[in-house]
Amino acid sequence: MPVSSTPSEALPAHVAIIMDGNGRWAEARGLTRSEGHRAGLEATRQAVRFFAEQGVDTLTLFAFSSENWSRPRDEVEALFELFVSAIEAELPELVERGIALTFIGDRASFPQDLQARMTEAEQASARNERMRLVVALGYGGRWDILQAARRWVAGGDEAPDPEASFSGYLSTAGLPDVDLLIRTGGERRISNFLLWQSAYAELLFIETFWPDVSTAELQEGLSWYARRQRRFGRVIASAAGPEPGEVPSA
Ligand code: IPE
Ligand code: IPE
Ligand code: MG
Repeated sequence: MPVSSTPSEALPAHVAIIMDGNGRWAEARGLTRSEGHRAGLEATRQAVRFFAEQGVDTLTLFAFSSENWSRPRDEVEALFELFVSAIEAELPELVERGIALTFIGDRASFPQDLQARMTEAEQASARNERMRLVVALGYGGRWDILQAARRWVAGGDEAPDPEASFSGYLSTAGLPDVDLLIRTGGERRISNFLLWQSAYAELLFIETFWPDVSTAELQEGLSWYARRQRRFGRVIASAAGPEPGEVPSA
């Protein structure tokens, strides 16, 4: 479907998505939760294409959290199988589209075949420059801050800008901070996603379950973002007129 594009100055450099609602989408249709995750994969494919076409620099997708290890074993295993087959199936198109794929999170406990596919995909797409696609697997914001803190302290980094230096130890080192954080599925929480990196993100919560999210809804999200006034703690004179005591410019 053709979509209107957003002017580049109003485009978020980094979009992060908590892709939530697969299970409820499936339950509402009498399907298994795993079938919901499969349907979610199709929405993911569309979203990746959409944001790459829009010219977004970095797209980070939350696919499996540190806390998701507490789900029933069969759901976790089905998810891992889905990740393996999705990486295999999608990698050629990602490479063709110039998308570099990386993973963040603690992958040490993942099945060996999944770990191998992840590393292969990172290597095969590393030279791509059109968009960075970051998939958060086994990821938790607290885990990330802790692993960074340990290495930061061990490094004895006395940098003049400690926040910037600390950011370089996070799993997202080198990526811009999150500008737009979208959560689908109706919940209004962060669920331990990119805690440090979302400090000044615009938060967009939408009701739609992830498998039903359309390109049109993502476009609306970008338009909503373009209308936000990002102040970063500053005072910005309103468009309505000068602040009291302020001299209007000629
Ligand atoms: C998000 O959908 C996908 C993962 C966490 C893997 P859910 O599985 O959380 O779906 P709901 O929230 O139960 O509907
Ligand atoms: C967040 O969704 C994690 C992912 C989308 C991967 P959850 O469904 O796990 O979050 P909670 O448990 O509702 O907070
Ligand atoms: Mg959920």
